[in-house]
Amino acid sequence: MARATPSKAIDSPRDAIALLKQDHRTVEALFDEFEDADEPEQSRLAERICNMLNVHAQIEEELLYPAAKQALEDEEEVELVSEAAVEHASAKDLIAKIEGMTPDDEAFKATVKVLCEYVKHHVKEEENELFPALKKTDLDLKEIGTQLAERKFALMEEMGIEAEEPPAPTRKKSARATSRTSSSKARQARAGSRSKASARNSGRAARH
Ligand SMILES: [Fe+2]
Ligand SMILES: [Fe+2]
Repeated sequence: MARATPSKAIDSPRDAIALLKQDHRTVEALFDEFEDADEPEQSRLAERICNMLNVHAQIEEELLYPAAKQALEDEEEVELVSEAAVEHASAKDLIAKIEGMTPDDEAFKATVKVLCEYVKHHVKEEENELFPALKKTDLDLKEIGTQLAERKFALMEEMGIEAEEPPAPTRKKSARATSRTSSSKARQARAGSRSKASARNSGRAARH
């Protein structure tokens, strides 16, 4: 996947939820790539996944979760934020393990896979429960989005991390097109290459 410079990636202001959802799609795409990659590539992808998740978790913990705790009134919704923070702590344990491994380690792939499942579960809860609850509050999600973007790219610069390009050419496409998940794109790409292969095969069959 191509990578952008931080300044390029910060140029479009988005609300907090749009920014975080885009991060979610990007990391899902990296997990998809990891599955099909060879060992050297898996090592690079694991590093990018860990970096990205570290930054994402930190900006949520520093900016979104405290604002959410203040804005949410329903106790169960406030509890969602506490659960999310606990889930981050567990994910960070897995990330630290992966950061200390190489693809030669027997548990390397399994640990990345468990992290992937864990992140998927966490993302689902944020997107299906926490974010809709936040939309109903009077939080200024555009302002928080700006703060998240600034902090995200400051952290990336501090850590010497390049920004990840969104999983698809989203900037010039319609909002509808951009909302498709990266995993569905990966599936489409795989289906596309399968159908090309089957077209080639049927072409060969037709010539015989
Ligand atoms: Fe998130
Ligand atoms: Fe989170």
